Amino acid sequence: MVPGFSALLHALLALACVSPALGGTYSRTDSVSGSGFLDAFSYEAIPDPTHGRVNYVDAGTARSQNLTFASGNSFVLRADSRTRLNPSGPGRNSVRLLSRKQYTTAVMVFDIRHMPEGCGTWPAVWTVGADWPNQGEVDILEGVNDQGTNQATLHTSAGCTMPNSRAETGTVVGNDCQGNNGCGVKFREGNSYGPSLNRNGGGWFAMERTNSFIKVWFFPRGGNVPSDVSSGASSVNTDNWGTPGAFFPDNSCSISNKFGPHNIVINLTFCGDFAGNSAVYGSSGCPSTCVDFVNNNPSAFTNAFFDFAGLRVYT
Ligand SMILES: *[C@@H]1O[C@H](CO)[C@@H](O)[C@H](O)[C@H]1NC(C)=O
Ligand SMILES: *[C@@H]1O[C@H](CO)[C@@H](O)[C@H](O)[C@H]1NC(C)=O
Repeated sequence: MVPGFSALLHALLALACVSPALGGTYSRTDSVSGSGFLDAFSYEAIPDPTHGRVNYVDAGTARSQNLTFASGNSFVLRADSRTRLNPSGPGRNSVRLLSRKQYTTAVMVFDIRHMPEGCGTWPAVWTVGADWPNQGEVDILEGVNDQGTNQATLHTSAGCTMPNSRAETGTVVGNDCQGNNGCGVKFREGNSYGPSLNRNGGGWFAMERTNSFIKVWFFPRGGNVPSDVSSGASSVNTDNWGTPGAFFPDNSCSISNKFGPHNIVINLTFCGDFAGNSAVYGSSGCPSTCVDFVNNNPSAFTNAFFDFAGLRVYT
């Protein structure tokens, strides 16, 4: 190898190793809004792996039933709110989208005007790799039955745990990232989820993944929002974004080994392992049983929709 090339290679390697660890400046590589979502994502008409009372429909059905709708810089994804369900038939029609692209180290900013609300709803915006849980999962926005604030969670294979005390504004729910429970952090901001988020006109959810940490921020609309986030700038500097809601460092978890290439998933299910768990549903103040409620009250799902103002990815 020629000496000059070798020096350059070392400099590049040093950059590659150092900059993701520090976070910092990223350039925009994707900017998705309105009908752009229909190009950037595919529809997954699959059975819900978490046993929800849901029927994920294909692109044609979603468009003909207006379950996805794009206009200007608005992309709406919703569940059916017209049909009373046959208890022995399929679940409530809804949509699950999978990004065509995969990402590893990156910053993602979701500008969300409205998210699904209502008893029995279990909406999520998250990223996941192949062969779950071996390539990991990062839940950016998730909750059930309008309960509480947003929760960000990692799910991994065995051997990934989080320290109790971390530089984050949220509250630790679990420290072992292994499997279904995962290591969750509940956000502090009352308006980070459900009806309160919607009343406030939504906000921005941002996730930064490097080889040594994962961070998730929530910035409520009208709050103290970094200008590169609110303006959709062509580059962002996460060093200026303040303490994240959730911080997952690599003290006892190899982020680079536990997380592979990820697709973005946006899905809205009902009941199932989380929202429909009888203790969880029972403590939510919601009527009847989860499945009966979802079957019999279509109009209760009028507000079970996402409205995305945009998605930007920076690498
Ligand atoms: C489809 O949904 C959008 C968004 O809610 C709405 O504005 C539009 O009127 C609906 N179209 C039809 C044909 O119902
Ligand atoms: C979406 O599907 C995944 C499983 O692939 C599950 O972990 C998640 O909780 C589901 N959420 C929704 C809202 O469907």
